[in-house]
Amino acid sequence: MLNSKIALTVSSAEDDVPLSLANRGFCNLTGYDREEVEGRNCRLLQGLETSAESQAALHDFVHDPARDDGRFAILNYRKDGSTFHNLVFMTRLRSRDGAARFILASQFDMTTAEQRKALRSNDERLSRNLADLQVMGQQFGLAMEDSARAIFNSIAMLARLNLDE
Ligand SMILES: Cc1cc2nc3c(=O)[nH]c(=O)nc-3n(C[C@H](O)[C@H](O)[C@H](O)COP(=O)(O)O)c2cc1C
Repeated sequence: MLNSKIALTVSSAEDDVPLSLANRGFCNLTGYDREEVEGRNCRLLQGLETSAESQAALHDFVHDPARDDGRFAILNYRKDGSTFHNLVFMTRLRSRDGAARFILASQFDMTTAEQRKALRSNDERLSRNLADLQVMGQQFGLAMEDSARAIFNSIAMLARLNLDE
């Protein structure tokens, strides 16, 4: 997971949901080093041209512990200031009593039509990573809802987004 090509991040479900882990795929995508983002809230990727509407959709998910997973399009900024259209998938990891303990997120760069063609293979990898995590999590009494449905619905969601390229 740490070295996965797809971008993965894990945050605490508490306080200001600081990142406790950012993998290599995330660092490659954003240009930040792991130490620069761990302990910080991922809104550091947002900037002037990020729409309030897209920001609110993420806000609503993060602040509603009852929601298991969701996928959101948002304009983000790399460390060097360049922008990319991010499709963020988020899912909650819960302890046996149902309390949300962590939020896992995966970022996908969907800026160009060429990149969007890679969504399906990205999502197959994402599903495999989540399945591995499901197994690992069980040892610590953590579970997540089966996210496969939400992931594969994203292909349809992409088609509905009005993307120019
Ligand atoms: C694990 C995790 C990963 C996130 N990844 C992103 C991201 O890639 N891009 C982004 O704009 N926001 C991301 N967010 C959302 C922001 O961190 C933040 O929760 C969002 O802006 C809404 O909350 P706010 O209104 O408190 O800023 C992520 C959140 C979590 C918990």
